[in-house]
Amino acid sequence: MSADQAKIPVSTIDVFSDESLRHPFKDYRVLRDTGAVVMLERLGVYAIPRFGDVRDALRLPDRLLSGEGVGFSDVFNTPRGMNVIQSDGDMHRRLRNVVVRPLTPAQLKAARPQFKQMISMRIGTLIGQGSFDAMAVLASYLPVEAVAHLVGLPEKGRERMLEWAAATFNLIAPEHDEADLNSLAQARDFMATLNIDVVSKGSWAEQLFAAARDGKLTEAEALAAISAYILPSLDTTILAMGHLLANLANAPEQWALLRAEPERIPGAVLEGVRHSSVIRWFSRVTAEDHEVDGYQIPAGARVMLLYGSANRDERHYSEPDRFDIRRDARDHLAWGTGPHMCAGMHLARMEMEVLLEALVEHDVTLHAGVPELGTNSGLYGFTSLPLELGRRW
Ligand code: HEM
Repeated sequence: MSADQAKIPVSTIDVFSDESLRHPFKDYRVLRDTGAVVMLERLGVYAIPRFGDVRDALRLPDRLLSGEGVGFSDVFNTPRGMNVIQSDGDMHRRLRNVVVRPLTPAQLKAARPQFKQMISMRIGTLIGQGSFDAMAVLASYLPVEAVAHLVGLPEKGRERMLEWAAATFNLIAPEHDEADLNSLAQARDFMATLNIDVVSKGSWAEQLFAAARDGKLTEAEALAAISAYILPSLDTTILAMGHLLANLANAPEQWALLRAEPERIPGAVLEGVRHSSVIRWFSRVTAEDHEVDGYQIPAGARVMLLYGSANRDERHYSEPDRFDIRRDARDHLAWGTGPHMCAGMHLARMEMEVLLEALVEHDVTLHAGVPELGTNSGLYGFTSLPLELGRRW
């Protein structure tokens, strides 16, 4: 260590304790104030908690690798190779090109009216019905119904997708339980049953299998892309919608502003994902030494990139704990940045925008009860959110 290199501070914070998983923001603040890099003693990994440093790390994919896995457990990291999120370089570019084909803004524009109609009808059935669990009947509606339809999954099996997606994200931590392992095994069994004959005609999955049949990709690449539509697309969007609903219900002046100025809806969605980042973290492995603000992380180290902390960094956002739809949050890191930036963000944005548009158009009042916070190791969000949609007229 050269004289001008600082000693990396050590923290005893356990980011996987139930308390920290439910209420992570206090710990994130302590980590940010402790240093630009902090050694998490319990996990034996380096954490990067500040906005600018997480952003810079995500934009150095040759130095901070994804192909060594982005979780902390072998079971999460093992299915590498044919996995867009856990690959680097040419392999990653090739897989990503396949995955993003149907996910461009232009392609999604065509699906938007149907999404809007679906969510508007669902909201219509909930108005004036008293309190309901918004996670189960409102936030999960579009991700499960509409996305499963676009991807073209067979009816049988797809009702388990939510359980599989949650289990996959939970397996990211170093310790995990039997039930999640079983769910992952069942998800893999379901994926293995997919082929061109069982998926819906004209769906994304059918197009991918057809491309594989025509020799444009391998069957394994087609399956990798299909699983990239399923596992990272459900809970993420559902939990983000839950946060948006709670944030708007708990800040009546923000909800009033949005109703008065619906052109703010796209900005409100971005502020929602910034404020309550659903993906807590992913990790990288350093291919070479990586310096952050005078701290040297050695080559071969595992580094935890704390997206949720970065988005609440007071060095970057003023009053970061405040949900404020007037804020310009376009540079938030909730979908990451750099080459692995979320491939489905346009779809997620569209789902959340039509939700808010429909709520504004129905001219409802929003009342939220106390949500139950989940303890998923990879995802921050509610397991239930009591919500009431009232009539204003
Ligand atoms: C609010 C909803 C969502 C959030 C917060 C979110 C967040 C993220 C984040 C943080 C990453 C970066 C991974 C990294 O840095 O290693 C990512 C990647 C990815 N997301 Fe999302 N996501 C969301 C919705 C979706 C949806 C709807 C889909 C699919 C339809 C999707 C598919 C993917 C894929 C395939 C990747 C890997 C991209 C790559 O490695 O090149 N996500 N997402």
